[in-house]
Amino acid sequence: MQMSNPAEKKPHAVLIPYSVQGHINPLFGLAKLLHHRGFHITFVHTEYNYKRLFNSRGLKAFDGSPDFHFETIPDGLPLTDEVVNVTQDLAPLSKSVRENFLLPFRELLARLHDSAIAGHIPPVTGLVSDYSLTFTTQAAQEITLPILLFSTASASSLLSILQIRILSDKGLISLKDRIPTMKNFRPNHFIRTTDPNNFIVKSIIDMADSVLKAPTTVINTYEELETEAFKALSSMLPSVCPIGPFPSFLNQSPQNHLESLASNLWKEDTECLEWLKSKEPNSVVYVNFGSITVMSPEKLLEFAWGLANSKRPFLWIIRPDLVIGGSVILSSEFVNEISDRSLIASWCSQEQVLNHPSIGGFLTHCGWNSTIESICAGVPMVCWPFFADQPTNCRNICNE
Ligand code: UDX
Repeated sequence: MQMSNPAEKKPHAVLIPYSVQGHINPLFGLAKLLHHRGFHITFVHTEYNYKRLFNSRGLKAFDGSPDFHFETIPDGLPLTDEVVNVTQDLAPLSKSVRENFLLPFRELLARLHDSAIAGHIPPVTGLVSDYSLTFTTQAAQEITLPILLFSTASASSLLSILQIRILSDKGLISLKDRIPTMKNFRPNHFIRTTDPNNFIVKSIIDMADSVLKAPTTVINTYEELETEAFKALSSMLPSVCPIGPFPSFLNQSPQNHLESLASNLWKEDTECLEWLKSKEPNSVVYVNFGSITVMSPEKLLEFAWGLANSKRPFLWIIRPDLVIGGSVILSSEFVNEISDRSLIASWCSQEQVLNHPSIGGFLTHCGWNSTIESICAGVPMVCWPFFADQPTNCRNICNE
């Protein structure tokens, strides 16, 4: 029988990331792939990030595709009049996720349900949630909605998190112990304290608990890259599936009108792509520390002079909020030294930069997205891990 509304035929996925750039990008990639496969998509941002997303593109809102739409929920943090273009402080954000997100998310699912009953959208068939958002499992269970957890970290990092959880449960956690089933990995690659009140320790415990209970977990990686970690995860979890690497899938699938839909929270500097055209193949060192890393002014200067003294051309992305305590001051001596061969910008389209033939190497903080994007682009990495899963990624990049 023919349905009156063609939208009714579509499966409808609701996707919700943890609200920082490194978690939004891969989930947004998955949303695009599902949309390409015929899904109706609802992508959930926090109000804060939604404003940043469209401000950075000079838009008020997105009025594009009827079968790919955005919804927002408040993040429970103090409101600011203006959108401050910075990554929110992770400790209060994590606390707020735990305490404040369930209610508005539950209300959103109810609104989507009403809208489906009224025939405006297809009924929600499933939820894809970032693995670090534990409230989503509760919300899905309440209305018996199928849920898939999505790990934005590598299989090895996910394994470390689960093992740390299991060790801590047994009261065995010591920062320097070996992590079972992982060669040369120790809890102190991930956490700097075992204090259960520390927000990273709390987040790890929460994430591990929801992944251990989840019917299915998917990871932005591929099996050949992390064979051992996958074997171990498969023996611990009901169902775990590698679904990456996204950069290569996304480059293969035509995105038609969704091309214009971006997930970057900062405005991209397009000048750097023009600038790269003027450089020799494989000659430029690309330097980018992702969306969360911060450093002292002294450390920034060390990097600055290290890069200058390398005598190589470099493209260095210095986010406006990279330096602790305020703006970046680079001396005129430094600027004179590098200006004829190098460029500093505040944000770029990283995948386009990494795939540019002029790029010869990547000085990276080893965020999992950066790592996998660099592997897909065939660019060798020099590692400076900062925190969380980055030391684990660094060890794998360097040793495995
Ligand atoms: C964080 C963690 O570090 C990471 O390991 C975790 O798995 C996800 O959250 P982040 O530190 O921001 O993310 O690094 P990364 O994982 O590399 O993600 C940054 C994303 O922003 C990448 O997709 C990258 O392409 C994009 N980006 C970054 C840009 O498009 N332009 C930039 O200038 C910088």
